[in-house]
This record gives sequence, structure tokens and C-alpha cells, in this order.
Amino acid sequence: MSMRPFLAEEFVHLYGPGDHKVRSFFAPGRANLIGEHIDYNGGLVMPAAVTLGIRAACRLRSDHLIRLHSSEDLLAVEIDLDRPIEPDPVRGWGNYPAGVLRELLLQGVDLMGADVLFTTTLPQGAGLSSSAAMEVLTAFSFLALAEAPTSDLRAIALLCQKVENQFVGVNCGIMDQFAVALGKEDCALLLDCKSQDYHYVRVALNAHALVIMNTSSPRRLADSKYNKRRAECDAVLRLLGTDAPRNGLVHAAWRDVLSHVSDPVLRRRARHVISEQERVEQASRVLAAGDLPAFGRLLTESHASLRDDYEVTGLHLDAIVGAALQAPGCLGARMTGAGFGGCAIALVEQAQIPDFTASVRSAYLAATGLEPAFYATHAADGVHETIGEG
Ligand code: GLA
Repeated sequence: MSMRPFLAEEFVHLYGPGDHKVRSFFAPGRANLIGEHIDYNGGLVMPAAVTLGIRAACRLRSDHLIRLHSSEDLLAVEIDLDRPIEPDPVRGWGNYPAGVLRELLLQGVDLMGADVLFTTTLPQGAGLSSSAAMEVLTAFSFLALAEAPTSDLRAIALLCQKVENQFVGVNCGIMDQFAVALGKEDCALLLDCKSQDYHYVRVALNAHALVIMNTSSPRRLADSKYNKRRAECDAVLRLLGTDAPRNGLVHAAWRDVLSHVSDPVLRRRARHVISEQERVEQASRVLAAGDLPAFGRLLTESHASLRDDYEVTGLHLDAIVGAALQAPGCLGARMTGAGFGGCAIALVEQAQIPDFTASVRSAYLAATGLEPAFYATHAADGVHETIGEG
């Protein structure tokens, strides 16, 4: 990734000299390859960490004050570890680290004050998990600064999901924090969100690449609509009664849905959940077999299901995926993340990427009046300390 090379110098310029050493940590964003809106339904998902992410330069202080700055934002955040830490709208993005610090304290981690400078290459609110990256980065960095173990990445992911659910107030599943914590170079994570078992699937794209396409349309109302979709899935489970699977809606039988659920909207929600799980299973098989055209078709089918049955795409995501499917070299495309704006991914022949992006850009601009952004990235490692990167 194109890291800012002089973060440590920027840090000293901002905070001045100090007694402790400046340490630097990195957490990636994630792109979900397939398995959308099924992590909270007990499903299988296939996210990958990407090379875009957030970096933190940190230096311990000898008191209990935490000072947080971001290179990209003027907002400065201060947290006093000796006072109760509560959510505060004025704190903006600082609520993610604040919630994590509170949870670490509750878990008995012996935190000291620190000065922190964040810098990011991850577009905010674009569906690439900038919030999970900020949470996991904070948890990992502060555990490391406290000389507490950082090797239990699954526990870090769960702690951060708890913060998102209880402190931030978004009822998200476990996928994003897991991918950010446990990502691996050139691999996607095949994660069973019920058992939390996972293994790595090599993403061997050969002469192809995954292109991330940002609609430049922020995820409007994403949080409230997200919580509404979760409630709809719970409603289906209640209607299924004794036929409801104990391990999540993905395991429901479609014939049971047909016999217990008459509401057409709830039926469509269930159809997406059940069919998306099948697509993830197929995707892991075709990827292992190197059948990229089949993988591309599954991506496109996933998008159609999210558009027609789950209704989480909207004008901008549909326009960019539509443009991608008409563009040269594209084997398949879909929205990624929560939806309602944000990013989509496309599987594209490498040699055709310049023509592909030019074609998507002009079609998307004509359809929406917005300038999209494209990121060339690949599957990357999860959160880690960056040594010797300045
Ligand atoms: C958001 C949530 C995840 C997941 C996706 C949809 O990114 O944080 O837990 O539910 O939406 O797949």
C-alpha cells in the first residue's frame, strides 16, 4: 500500500519530543467477496482484508490522558482514562477508539495514557469497514502498548464487535472485525459466523484482478436500514416457529418458508439469505478449482439477489454494477458491505483494467452525475505492528 512514509516525523511535529518510543500499527479495510447480509444469520462469508487501511503512530505518556489526532480531520479527541467513557456525538470518529478503550479497561487491561496520530488511505463510510479498522487498530495498538498479549485476534474481533453493537449502536455481525483482524495476504477468509470457525481460501485470480469501485455516494441511512433488515430476518425466524433452524436463518428450508411466511417482503428477505449461503458454498468450490468465469457469475447473481430480494443496493450501486457488467474484461460484479451506497467489486481481466475503468467511469457519470473512484488492491494481511516503515 502507499503508506505515508513520514508518519513518525509528522507525529513528532504534532506532539513534540517525548521520553517513549513512537510505535506504528496498521489495520486494513475489507472487501467482502461474497456472502452478504448473512453473517448475522449464521452464514458463511468470504471477506478479504485489502491493502487500503488506517495507520496509527502511538507513543505512551506517563499520565492517564489519551490524545487522538487524524491527519485527515481537524477534530482532536482527548480521553481521560480516570473518568467514565461514554458515547458522545461531539467526539465524531473518536467514538470508535473511545468505545474500545472503555472495553479494554472493563476487561482489566492496565492502560496508560498515549498520544496517537491516525492516517488513512481508506475512504470513510464507503462500505470498506473503516469503522472496524479503527476499532481493531485501537484494540491491537493499546494492547501492544500495555505489553498485553495481542495474539488472540479472534478475541480482539469479538471485543470490537461488542463496541460497535453496544457503544456505537450498530447491530452489525462479526464479519468486518474478523476480516480486519485475521486477513491474510492473497487469501480470503471463509468464516462460519455461527461457530466462528474459519479457514483461508487462496484467491488465485491469475490474469484477473478484483477492482473496487466507489460510487462516491455515501451509505445513506445505512445504519437504520441495516437494523431493519436484521429485524425482518428475526421476524421470519419467529414465523417459522418450531421449524426455525437453531443455527441461523441460512439453514432454513425454503419449503418451510413457503408454508409459514405469507408476507411477500419477508419471503424475499429469506430467499436472499438462503440462496446467498448456497452461492458462498459454490464460490469456495469454484475458486478452489480456478473457475473464474463461474466465480464471476456468482458475484453477479449475488448482486441481483441483494437488489431484488434484500433491497439494499439502490440507484448508485445498481448503476455502477450495471456499467461494470457492460465494460470490457468484466467477469462479474456486485456491491460489497452493507449496501445503500458505498463500494462494489468487479472481477476484471488485468490487461483490460484501463479500458474497464474508463468505460465504467463514463457510463456511471452519465447515469448519476457522480465521479466514481477505483482502487487497485489485493488481499492483504490483517492488523499488525509496522516495523521500520517510518
Ligand atoms: C456491514 C456489517 C457486517 C455485515 C455486512 C453485510 O458491513 O458490519 O457485519 O452484516 O454489513 O454483509
